[in-house]
Amino acid sequence: MPQIPPNSPPTGTANIPRTRDTGGRPPDTADVLVIGGGIIGLVTAWRTAQRGARVTVADPEPGGGAAQVAAGMLAAVTELHYGEETLLALNLASARRYPAFAAELEEASGERVGYRARGTLSVALDADDRAHLRELHALQRRSGLESEWLTGRECRRLEPMLAPGVRGGLRVDGDHQVDPRRLASALVTACERAGVEFRRGWAERLTVAHDRAAGARLTDGTELSAGQVVLAGGSLSGRLDGVPDEAVPPVRPVKGQVLRLAVPRAYAPFLTRTVRAVVRGSQVYLVPRENGELVVGATSEELGWDTTVTAGGVYELLRDAHELLPGITELPLTETRAGLRPCSPDNAPLLGPTALPGLLLATGHHRNGVLLTPVTGDAMATVLTTGTLPAEALPFTPRRFSPAAPLEQPV
Ligand code: GLY
Repeated sequence: MPQIPPNSPPTGTANIPRTRDTGGRPPDTADVLVIGGGIIGLVTAWRTAQRGARVTVADPEPGGGAAQVAAGMLAAVTELHYGEETLLALNLASARRYPAFAAELEEASGERVGYRARGTLSVALDADDRAHLRELHALQRRSGLESEWLTGRECRRLEPMLAPGVRGGLRVDGDHQVDPRRLASALVTACERAGVEFRRGWAERLTVAHDRAAGARLTDGTELSAGQVVLAGGSLSGRLDGVPDEAVPPVRPVKGQVLRLAVPRAYAPFLTRTVRAVVRGSQVYLVPRENGELVVGATSEELGWDTTVTAGGVYELLRDAHELLPGITELPLTETRAGLRPCSPDNAPLLGPTALPGLLLATGHHRNGVLLTPVTGDAMATVLTTGTLPAEALPFTPRRFSPAAPLEQPV
């Protein structure tokens, strides 16, 4: 008998009755245990609970994680890379869902998520940057994406605070932004309202019974049992004890240092849209929020689980941001923080069943966790409740690194 009725329709924001057939399992057994309460774990829990499943999330601090650091660019077009055409399709699918997703989440939670359809400007400061941007433009056009080449003067007309040295740029009106901290908070509330149970603790060991994932033990000794387990622990996803070798997700942490500044009223509007550039080979971006916050990111460092904010990291970000927008040095610096992107070997997420029956992955989103939140929630809810990954998520099955992983999950 299936653990979750496969034909349960999505139920929007309605409260789900919790008195259901538990398929012969003890009534305190969840249908789904999500390990990790960052935005990926939360959206998986929310969407799955909306379909009638009994869902538990294990995390010491739900809504924390990389979303507390991320800038929230929805940069499917401006972060396009050679060789990542498959990922582009998923990124675009998620970007298209964002307006409706944000509206539904705001309705479900009663909280704003700061979705802004303001567009992005990628600029070049010297001849090398301009050549790089021209190549990106050609790749975008070949991929059928909307992107317009602007002269330096046209860039400054759009964003008058840009440095006189800006030599050209790409205007991408389709790359928007959301506030990841608000997104995380709204997802926690939406989960609570949909009946998701939160267990505030670290999962230290996966429980396996009869060759199937059956739950997890928390560091305080609490045993949680579930019909299916989703590992959504971000960069820590590969470190849960008890996961058989062939099911361990190949994710590693990639550190990003990010700064937050405040734009006083007298300076507003400092920027009207996200501005980004590659300066001497390093990415820098500036994301202006409605509330006057200006987020500057981000370094990309392979240093294990280190989250130290370094003088060098802050210096490089401010130096590069200052070359783009000299006026930035006038703004109050309000926060410096580092987070860890969960990166897979091909920079794309791991979504779906593993070689261990009952264990699924939702991790490895690297630079795209915020962008991919809507499509991840939909894909994970579908596979958890029907056993089948939707077509758009099939290229991201863990099977590409672990051939024993099946494409379907008996539910
Ligand atoms: N997507 C932006 C970053 O990861 O820095």
